[in-house]
Amino acid sequence: MLIGNTAERFGFVTKTLHWLTLVLLIGSFTLAVSMVNMPFSPRKLEFYSWHKWVGVTIFLVVLLRLGWRLINPVPQPPQGTPPWQRRLAGWSHAALYAILIVMPVTGWIMSSALNLPVVYLGLIHIPSPFGVDRALGETMKVVHLSLAIALLTLVAVHVLAALYHHFVQRDDVLRRMLPWPARLKGTNAVNWKTQ
Ligand code: HEM
Repeated sequence: MLIGNTAERFGFVTKTLHWLTLVLLIGSFTLAVSMVNMPFSPRKLEFYSWHKWVGVTIFLVVLLRLGWRLINPVPQPPQGTPPWQRRLAGWSHAALYAILIVMPVTGWIMSSALNLPVVYLGLIHIPSPFGVDRALGETMKVVHLSLAIALLTLVAVHVLAALYHHFVQRDDVLRRMLPWPARLKGTNAVNWKTQ
């Protein structure tokens, strides 16, 4: 099994972290939508805790992912990809990473500011340096929600781009990120070190 990335494809670690992020995001959004629509109850509070735990986990997974990315090659876009498309892909990936980091942080500051502290897995209290501050909490709520909308939009565009590569361009871009080992056509064969 290929653990690290190569010039042509993503390895096991990157793929696992990529698809784990998707699973965690689906969990986080499902919990968020359910909990805000629930009447006040112990179950509602439980959902809030789980939502926060998933958020902290996403934050940790993204840090791990970025660390792994730093020490691994990143497969390049297929040969012949116009520079504007390369730039757009780079910016959108950077924006996804940025939102995945900033969103949990805004959630953590919001919770602490509204006096609803984050206790990761019910074990680790993560105190906020800003303390209790209602106005800050309300501002963070707006930022958190706006980021959620931005993230959903970006992910939708990201998925459409992956499908466009697969079904229209018929290249290896989606195939090389699939969770299972997929045979490549060889459309990405560019040495990343020469880029
Ligand atoms: C069905 C859902 C998804 C599909 C089909 C998909 C597909 C892909 C594919 C094909 C790539 C490789 C692009 C390339 O080779 O240049 C990729 C990379 C990436 N994906 Fe996704 N993705 C999905 C969900 C997500 C989600 C939910 C996130 C995060 C919110 C995400 C974040 C990223 C990032 C940041 C990269 C860049 C990896 C890197 O170069 O470091 N993806 N995705």
